[in-house]
Amino acid sequence: MFMKQGAEAKVSVCDFYGKPCIVKERFPKAYRHPSLDKTLTLRRIKAEVRAIMRCRLQGINVPALYFVDLERSCIYMEWVKNSRSVRDYIDKVQGQGDAMDSRLKQLATSIGHVLGRMHTHNIIHGDLTTSNMLLQGSLDEYKLWLIDFGLSDIEAAAEDKGVDLYVLERAILSSHPKTREFFEDILSAYRTANKGGADAVIDKLEEVRLRGRKRTMVG
Ligand SMILES: Nc1ncnc2c1ncn2[C@@H]1O[C@H](COP(=O)(O)OP(=O)(O)O)[C@@H](O)[C@H]1O
Ligand SMILES: [Mg+2]
Repeated sequence: MFMKQGAEAKVSVCDFYGKPCIVKERFPKAYRHPSLDKTLTLRRIKAEVRAIMRCRLQGINVPALYFVDLERSCIYMEWVKNSRSVRDYIDKVQGQGDAMDSRLKQLATSIGHVLGRMHTHNIIHGDLTTSNMLLQGSLDEYKLWLIDFGLSDIEAAAEDKGVDLYVLERAILSSHPKTREFFEDILSAYRTANKGGADAVIDKLEEVRLRGRKRTMVG
């Protein structure tokens, strides 16, 4: 059954030996040279598989890997059923007054924690957006899942972690109005979960913000 087609991949659902399964197939891009396209696709599949494995080994919620078909550029993984994206969640709870404030606080804490743990293990997601995080459960009790690791990397440098957070900050501020405090709450939870490293990462984040601002002033 077909589900979604993004710019990079087609996602469909199937049954994998009785388990609900997602097939993520990366298709060739006509505008790219075929051999470059193959190399990039392979690199993304490998990055995705590596990061998913590494997260799972650390107990971070990511879909279980079922099968990798390099020939057909497909990853078969656990289907996170009855979930919605963080993006949809925020849209849904915005405008709910007090309930909104406490729900967004709780959500920011969950996100900050998982990102802090992920960075502690040197996993850089590479495409942190509110669409690449899923919430499974009800509005008040849920499990947070990370997905879409095709642009990920394993890297210890604070710079890469700072850029990872910057990408998320831009994504949040551009998709959701009035969420400045939400991102600040993510950072405070991040600090608790990445005790040794958070200061250096947030310094880098501030550097990257300044660079971004300069670029917009010049350009
Ligand atoms: N394991 C999964 N369980 C449930 N939904 C998923 C899963 N993987 C992907 N999806 C859905 O498919 C969409 C696209 O998948 P994603 O991995 O983010 O690829 P893309 O590179 O196209 O953004 C996600 O935003 C999500 O809605
Ligand atoms: Mg995605």
